[in-house]
Amino acid sequence: MDPTAADVATLWQARFGTAPGAVELPPALAALLDRRVARRYRAEPVSDALLDGLLAVAQSAPSKSDLQQYSVVVMRDPARIKRIADWIGTMPWIASAPVFLVWCADMRRGVRLCDMHGMPHANNNLDTFLNGAVDCALAMGQFITAAELIGLGTCPISYVRSHIEKVTPLLGLPPGVFPVSGLTVGWPDGRRPTSMRLPPSVVVHRERYDDSAMPDAVRAYDERRHAREPVAPASQKSRDVYPPREGVGWSENSARQLSVPERFGFSAYLKTRGFDLA
Ligand SMILES: Cc1cc2nc3c(=O)[nH]c(=O)nc-3n(C[C@H](O)[C@H](O)[C@H](O)COP(=O)(O)O)c2cc1C
Repeated sequence: MDPTAADVATLWQARFGTAPGAVELPPALAALLDRRVARRYRAEPVSDALLDGLLAVAQSAPSKSDLQQYSVVVMRDPARIKRIADWIGTMPWIASAPVFLVWCADMRRGVRLCDMHGMPHANNNLDTFLNGAVDCALAMGQFITAAELIGLGTCPISYVRSHIEKVTPLLGLPPGVFPVSGLTVGWPDGRRPTSMRLPPSVVVHRERYDDSAMPDAVRAYDERRHAREPVAPASQKSRDVYPPREGVGWSENSARQLSVPERFGFSAYLKTRGFDLA
């Protein structure tokens, strides 16, 4: 049954913690306003045919200059998926998913295309790195949207990059190909609460960038979010640097994470994999 306008208002309230105002959102899109990651899966298979259909939808995402500079590795072997889960150690939902996708930026294919046509590849640079990562993210995003619409659950896993030196040989990734994100896929076992988002006024700029009202808007967002789902001390970021305490809101928790360098060896890794990043 199609959701009604009242349902949409309820979903908006869940997403932003505010009333929707004069927004127009066709009810058919309400399911997308309601999306969320799934971190528990039922022991139910996802068929190859369905997975291939979803991957075809993912491949229908836009791609910079139609160059299609990404690849995806499909993992179904539970023992191999568990190896990644064990390396990460803190995310048991990875091993419980029947499918684990590793979305990769891929410069190698372009190098090989040039080689096939006897031309030099003259774009081993930061722009190609970014184009590959963006193509990859758009395809993964389209996969997530399609999966959500048919009731499948997914969760992106950036932590594959925290163990990139082991993930790379496990997947046989050649130079020129690196993982952007993993993605668990399966039939969800329950639904998580909606994660409240920043107000659109903070993210959406009209004609010119203007973040002058951001601090006040974020303080109000912190309060709304804290009232619904306080950041528990045990799940606060960088607890080894800043002692956990009650009353930490979204912005402070984000600052706690962003003030400590994460994966600072990544550019060195990319250089060992043939990316000049110049
Ligand atoms: C690129 C990317 C990487 C992510 N990496 C992880 C991860 O390693 N582990 C995890 O549990 N969730 C991961 N997430 C999921 C986010 O934590 C989640 O999207 C966010 O908390 C908001 O929740 P929601 O998607 O349910 O709205 C990732 C999301 C993105 C977009």
